[in-house]
Amino acid sequence: MTEQTNTSNPNAKTPSPALLQDSFGRHVTYLRVSVTDRCDFRCTYCMSEQMKFLPKKDVLSFEELASIVDVFVKRGVTKLRLTGGEPLVRKDITKLIDKFSGHLKTKSLKELTLTTNGSQLSKYASHLVDAGMERINVSLDTLDAEKFHKITRRGNLETVLNGIEAAKNAGLRIKINMVAMNGFNDQEIVPMVRWAHGQGYDLTLIEEMPLGEIANDRTQSFLALRDVRDNLAQQFSLEKIGLSTGGPARYVRVKETGGRIGFITPMSHNFCESCNRVRLTCTGKLYLCLGKEDCIDLRDPLREGGEAGLNAALDEAMRIKPKGHDFDQKRMTPAVGRHMSVTGG
Ligand code: 5AD
Ligand code: SF4
Repeated sequence: MTEQTNTSNPNAKTPSPALLQDSFGRHVTYLRVSVTDRCDFRCTYCMSEQMKFLPKKDVLSFEELASIVDVFVKRGVTKLRLTGGEPLVRKDITKLIDKFSGHLKTKSLKELTLTTNGSQLSKYASHLVDAGMERINVSLDTLDAEKFHKITRRGNLETVLNGIEAAKNAGLRIKINMVAMNGFNDQEIVPMVRWAHGQGYDLTLIEEMPLGEIANDRTQSFLALRDVRDNLAQQFSLEKIGLSTGGPARYVRVKETGGRIGFITPMSHNFCESCNRVRLTCTGKLYLCLGKEDCIDLRDPLREGGEAGLNAALDEAMRIKPKGHDFDQKRMTPAVGRHMSVTGG
């Protein structure tokens, strides 16, 4: 009698790799890919003026990024966001977007989306729609052209507004991300709510986080969104809505405008217990928490071990994903050395 083993049985199926679940029982279903750490802006809260970018030779090819994403999708990731830096400044980015969009067609991915500074949107909006994107996030901290130039150090407001309009006209739903800064745009939050909702966009306010060294003192500019919300409640009727994307934003509907405002409060309140995400850099490092250094290299496992190597690395990543970050608004010195542009928000 011959013993049947998996190798001798031609009908045996390879077991599917397990879904990604960390040691706290949280399922990881959301991958953010920073496709480049480079950006055409130098927002003062995000970067230093003389930014040192990752060496080009270390950046993964589109094929490599796509192979990594394939494995994530097989292991249960259903939402993919391209971030940066500015994702749309990476050369031939549409080719990468098209590769990722294949997973939408097979319905393995439920959503493919993007966070952008808007500078290239006029050029790419219709391509994004053709690739199956339905909504995008655009960073915009002020509607004042001079202040916009000042905060981005080199951006042009008109170009960005035209880009946002092109995205809207192409059929994309838009969420504006605004980092709330004391003494810079605190007086502009109400006008921004009116403008965004008037255009049919959602608005998400974000607390500044101590990520990477910058020229300014973050203690001076930090603005707690609890206070912003109290202030908004004096001008508008805010209705709590249960909408949750599994992410850190908490939403209200503004009765007067019909639009939504999200609050991302990593400094004053974190929502790590429901964290469903991990972040891949363009050089193949997988960061397991925005506010922690814990990471796993995926480049060598990919190059040396292929899919099996990646699966083993992802198992290890799930073992070490931290419970949460411990940002503290009294300590605005960098909690982690890397800038937001490396891990993409
Ligand atoms: N703190 C908070 N938000 C930041 N962003 C970039 N750097 C920081 C920071 N240090 C924002 C960008 C973008 C989003 C991804 O993160 O403005 O909207
Ligand atoms: Fe670029 Fe976004 Fe950083 Fe501004 S916040 S420098 S747009 S990556």
